[in-house]
Formats: sequence, structure tokens, C-alpha cells
Amino acid sequence: MSRLLREDAPNSLRYISLWCTEPWTWEAWPRLDEAVRSGRNVFPELFGKEFFDYLHSDAGDSAKVFDKAMTTSSRQSAVDFAEYLDLTGIDSVADIGGGQGHVLASLLEKHPALHGTLLDLPKVVAGADPRLRDGGAFSARARLVPGDCRVEIPVRADLYIIKNILEWDDDSTRRTLANVVKAAGSGARVVVVENLVDNSPSMRFTTAMDLMLMLNVGGAKHSEESMAGLMAEAGLTVTAVRPVNPYLHAFEAIVSG
Ligand SMILES: C[S@@+](CC[C@H](N)C(=O)[O-])C[C@H]1O[C@@H](n2cnc3c(N)ncnc32)[C@H](O)[C@@H]1O
Repeated sequence: MSRLLREDAPNSLRYISLWCTEPWTWEAWPRLDEAVRSGRNVFPELFGKEFFDYLHSDAGDSAKVFDKAMTTSSRQSAVDFAEYLDLTGIDSVADIGGGQGHVLASLLEKHPALHGTLLDLPKVVAGADPRLRDGGAFSARARLVPGDCRVEIPVRADLYIIKNILEWDDDSTRRTLANVVKAAGSGARVVVVENLVDNSPSMRFTTAMDLMLMLNVGGAKHSEESMAGLMAEAGLTVTAVRPVNPYLHAFEAIVSG
């Protein structure tokens, strides 16, 4: 099993393991009882700022571990998701909170006429997949937008992807979904992808991550009902909920007219 901690192991868990044991986690876990009682994250009280602000301005090493953990976990799911997604009639996609852009790069590779936009926090976009950056294989069809999806999503696209990001507090989810609806035209497609705390063989891993997210971003992984409920509240018509792979589900929706 220790081979999984090697960087070069196929399906390496090295950076996921490091991420779950970063210095800040040791200060946050002892406050779990408080977080469970209040339903709120304990991070701002401990560190004086929100989690992602802290990560990017005060904990550069931890931010690097986070990006690598996300890269490892998103690489395989990006391929699965690109296989899953039917892009018939779609000319442009926007990946909101798309990390370094592995999903977007997989889609641009598979669909040679597709255009795509990656929106994520400035420091994350700055380290985007080289294939999406100037001089990269897909640069002519890719746009990189640094920003905060809770504030504004200045991107018009036929299809919006929101994958593994709506697992923070409900207020951030509401603001993000409202911004997507505002940016999109009526009839645009929105696909939300999440690990659910039910119906999943990876339930114990998802539950552990759910508790960690509660500590740092006040997050909560969703059940099918809670996710579909927030999407409907934002003005989205959910048309289907389908498995992408053994641990991810896609919520397919249309922006109501
Ligand atoms: C768990 S990762 C998922 C990344 C990618 N969607 C995937 O599935 O591989 C969450 C992403 O949300 C981004 N993020 C967090 N807060 C954000 C915000 N306010 N606006 C835009 N992106 C944000 C993080 O930088 C990170 O890339």
C-alpha cells in the first residue's frame, strides 16, 4: 500500500494524503465538535481569514500541495467526464472553478471545433494546464478568466460545467448558481458534478472529506435532494441526475426562460 504514497505510482495518493495532513488541519480538527454544533467552519476564527484567502496569501506550500492533490484526483475524473458528456449542438463550454483546466483540456482534445473558458481564482488560473496557455496546443480555442465565481461570472457559453466546487457553504453555492444564471442565455445547459454522500460506493471517503470541508470552508457534500433543491431555487430546471463513474454524479440542467 505504501507504493501509493510515491509520486510516480499509477493512481498515486501522495498529494491527497499530504493535503489531508497539512499543518492547518491539526488546528482545525480539534474544533470539530464546535463546527458540528454550529454548522459553520472554524477557519476564520482560527486564522483570521477565509480558507482560500489564507491558502493563497499565507500558505504557499499548502497551496501547492492542494493544486497537486486536485490535479491527481481530477486527471482520471476529467477523462471519465469527457467520455460521459454529450456535446451535441454545443459550440462553447465554460468550466467554473475548473482548477488548472484538466476537464477543459480533455474536452478540447476530444472535440476539435469546441471553444472553452476556464474561470478560477487568479493564482490557480496562472498555473493552468500549458495546453490552454499561450503557445499551447489549444490556446486558440481556450480563454482563461481569473475571478471569483461568487462575485461575477463574465462568461457567455452554451454549456457551463461546475465540477466539485459546490461543496462549500450554501450561501456561496447560491451566489455561484445565481451568477451562472445571470451570465447564461435562456436555454443554456448547466452540468453540476459532485460526489454525493449517498448512492456512492466511495461513501466513507466522501464522508471524511465532507467533515474536512466543514472545518475549512463550512462546506457540505450534498445528497441528490439538497443539490437538486439549490439548483431549482436558482432558476435551473434539472432534467436528469446520472452517474459519471463509480464516485461522481452529474446533475443535468437547463437555464429556465
Ligand atoms: C475541488 S477543486 C475542483 C476543481 C475542478 N473543477 C475539478 O473538478 O477538478 C475546487 C476549485 O474551486 C476553485 N475555487 C474556490 N473558490 C473559488 C471562487 N470563489 N471562484 C472561482 N473558483 C474558486 C478552487 O481554486 C479549486 O480549483
